[in-house]
Amino acid sequence: MAVQLLFPTLVYQARLPGWRRLNAPLLRECRQLRADDAAGRRWSQRNYPGGYTSYNSAHRMHRRSPTFATLARELERHVAKFARALQLDLTARPLGMTDCWVNVMGRGAVHGLHLHPLSTISGTYYVAVPQGAPGLKFEDPRLERFMASPPRGGAAGRGQRPWVTLRARAGELVLFESWLRHEVAPHPLAAERVSISFNYSWF
Ligand code: NI
Repeated sequence: MAVQLLFPTLVYQARLPGWRRLNAPLLRECRQLRADDAAGRRWSQRNYPGGYTSYNSAHRMHRRSPTFATLARELERHVAKFARALQLDLTARPLGMTDCWVNVMGRGAVHGLHLHPLSTISGTYYVAVPQGAPGLKFEDPRLERFMASPPRGGAAGRGQRPWVTLRARAGELVLFESWLRHEVAPHPLAAERVSISFNYSWF
């Protein structure tokens, strides 16, 4: 073959079996956490207008709530599968969840372009996603090096585009390597988009 594919960027997407049963208590707990977490609400008011995140106040929910711990157990199989697809050698040190936090996007909330420093694999699980809510937009990690590279043609496949947005759907999870930059466009709806994000580190 003349043309070879090198240095691929892998992203993993799957639906949890039994997600409906899991999401009802998760959604209740996400809303309850927001009601209880005054520090998180204050932080969100300054840093996440229109939304609530427990990123800065309650970021180890898998240790704090049995419901979140159940989610973490459900995620393990998928993280292991993704790590195998990445061909990570984890024989000497395992991957473990370090952080797990809640994001509630109300109308106008936006999640600017970012990555997850000090982590190996990151991801999001969707608890409630109203019709028309934004997905998760990834940026080609080579973008800053493109220099004189012409834009890709309109017919370019997903793997050749500089940005790719994966849909958000309740019961689905997305996993990516933590260095991959991503963002969520402004949420245009009054109905809340609720997700749980998490980091795995290589201990
Ligand atoms: Ni993120």
